[in-house]
Amino acid sequence: MSVVTPLAQYSSMWQLLSPTTLLLLVSAGMQAGSPADLPKAVVLLDPPWVRVLEEDYVTLKCQGTYPPGNSSTQWLHNGSLISSQASSYSIKSARVEDSGEYRCQTGLTMLSDPVLLEVHIGWLLLQTTQWVFQEGDPIWLRCHSWKNRPVQKVTYLQDGKGKKYFHQNSDFHIQKATSSDNGSYFCRGLIGNNNKSSETVSIIIRDNSASPSISSVFLPWHQIIFCLVMGVLFAADTGLYYSMQRNLRSSMENWKDHKFQWNRDPQDK
Ligand SMILES: *[C@@H]1O[C@H](CO)[C@@H](O)[C@H](O)[C@H]1NC(C)=O
Ligand SMILES: *[C@@H]1O[C@H](CO)[C@@H](O)[C@H](O)[C@H]1NC(C)=O
Ligand SMILES: *[C@@H]1O[C@H](CO)[C@@H](O)[C@H](O)[C@H]1NC(C)=O
Repeated sequence: MSVVTPLAQYSSMWQLLSPTTLLLLVSAGMQAGSPADLPKAVVLLDPPWVRVLEEDYVTLKCQGTYPPGNSSTQWLHNGSLISSQASSYSIKSARVEDSGEYRCQTGLTMLSDPVLLEVHIGWLLLQTTQWVFQEGDPIWLRCHSWKNRPVQKVTYLQDGKGKKYFHQNSDFHIQKATSSDNGSYFCRGLIGNNNKSSETVSIIIRDNSASPSISSVFLPWHQIIFCLVMGVLFAADTGLYYSMQRNLRSSMENWKDHKFQWNRDPQDK
């Protein structure tokens, strides 16, 4: 019987620890969940271009967490609520009126930062995934034609000077942006026999050394709470482990004693 005792102790300690663990996690969750500390939702574009041509297909996706039982997403276009409540909002054939700022929000996020989408009319458009880059960021440019008509002899130009030439239209990648990539860009090429040029786009390369963003200096405090909780749990677990070992060891000794006694008992009788 005495062999069972340490196991019973062990499980009763778990029973004791478990509600405490849950309580800690729940309270940390609740604190992180107060409105002011919710993370922001994020609007993602698919394909990722912030500039598109009329009749292009664009999907905006809202990245955020949902409370159980409420998967509705709120979408704002230039500050006005859109009727769509799905997590993805698709524009099947873009119109100039679809241009502007998009924001989204889910039940467990704050309103996202705006994503600016520009819908242009033209034969060629220089597409980019953002306007402002940090030094070291990759830059991805695309010389996009209306309705994806074939374009040949494509040149990407920076500040009026040819920077990259493709006989067959291709995207232009800059692996790591440097300050020398800052400037105004456009592309041109042949659609059929017609020499077409896009409008120019300013691409700004920010100096990294300027000012580190606040978020990289300060941890959000719910992360600190999380670390503290994990620390407490680890300490509790370690304590438990050692007391377990001690219990087991003493019970093994008890058991041996018992065994010894059991072995002896018959002879005693
Ligand atoms: C569901 O979440 C949205 C936010 O996305 C909120 O506006 C709405 O009130 C919630 N609905 C319910 C029934 O809680
Ligand atoms: C970057 O380019 C923009 C125009 O595209 C220009 O206004 C700005 O002065 C440039 N900045 C630097 C640091 O060269
Ligand atoms: C298009 O026209 C420009 C001048 O406007 C010229 O420099 C360029 O070579 C032409 N491009 C092609 C592919 O013919």
